[in-house]
Amino acid sequence: MHYTGLVNRYRSRLPFAPEVRAVTLNEGNTPLIELVNIPKRAGFEGRILVKFEGLNPTGSFKDRGMTAAVTQAVHEGSKAIICASTGNTSAAAAAYAARAGITAFVLIPDGKIALGKLAQAVVHGAVVVQIQGNFDDGMRLVKEVAQTTPVAIVNSINPYRLQGQKTAAFEIIEALGRAPDYHCLPVGNAGNISAYWMGYKEATGQRATASMGGYSLEAFSNNLPKMAGYQAAGAAPFLRGGRVANPETVATAIRIGDPQSWDHAWAAQKESGGWFDECTDAEILATQRLLAEQEGVWCEPASATSLCGALRDIKSGKIVQGATVVCTLTGNGLKDPDIVIQAGLKGLVQVAAERGAVEQAIVSQLR
Ligand code: F0G
Repeated sequence: MHYTGLVNRYRSRLPFAPEVRAVTLNEGNTPLIELVNIPKRAGFEGRILVKFEGLNPTGSFKDRGMTAAVTQAVHEGSKAIICASTGNTSAAAAAYAARAGITAFVLIPDGKIALGKLAQAVVHGAVVVQIQGNFDDGMRLVKEVAQTTPVAIVNSINPYRLQGQKTAAFEIIEALGRAPDYHCLPVGNAGNISAYWMGYKEATGQRATASMGGYSLEAFSNNLPKMAGYQAAGAAPFLRGGRVANPETVATAIRIGDPQSWDHAWAAQKESGGWFDECTDAEILATQRLLAEQEGVWCEPASATSLCGALRDIKSGKIVQGATVVCTLTGNGLKDPDIVIQAGLKGLVQVAAERGAVEQAIVSQLR
């Protein structure tokens, strides 16, 4: 069967009638990769799996929400979409607008987005509006201008975004045969944690309806995970109990002080018996490196926040031994190579273009 994206795959669980044509880049269906080295190192006898959303078409989980939001916008006859973004939403909006043949307007914070993400918006032909402010300013402006101009908002305040994003929970249940015991996520605008919780809850309510060769096609779970949301310490409104005026973090994707899905995210935490916690920039970057070096998986800094928090909570015993833990890796490391290069070119050996010199370099580095 040719996979044609999550709107078609999960249409029976999404608010789209059969005749609504999906605007798709075959997003979703991302790998759930079991970590083999890190759990051993951490002395953890359970399982840690990463849902690598960086392998979506534009390199982040935003494609799940964007296929749904743009499908609906086009269905309603919109000719233009708009979003504020720390980079990934704008990349996805630009690509899906290109696919649909409509215009994308993206508001991004001045100088605080990873270069790869800016390039994505540009290459897909979006109108890039760089504002002298942060994401929260951009979000406020988008809401204001959408009242007076014919543009459809595709930030996660658009309910179709969360509908699309909830499908990641279905895929995880299908892969594991049940929901994990803990689900760990980075939290910025707080849409994704809200979407996963919605997906998990819906999957406990619906029994399998179709099967193919004995393999269940419809995600169904008897259990629900505890939802753990991790924020960057300099941008942690859920830890401060309210809006943070000047959020600051190296994880620019989650440099957000005024999350739009505040109530949904608190509900996910409370209903699931989960928690919020924070990670420092240094811890986040160390985890990004650890994952890349120990497992061969390169995610962007914000994404490493999920595993960073999970490993700390495993160590403290808050996440219990023997549990199954899923961490969402929200975006691809390739979006932000600067952050790695800035930290120094470890492993770079410069030698003359001579056989002896190269042999010497190899012998001295063998492990
Ligand atoms: N990780 C990455 C890589 C992100 O780009 C974002 C959000 C998050 C985590 C947080 O997810 O907002 O649902 O809590 N990026 C948005 C953007 C804000 O504009 O690309 P959230």
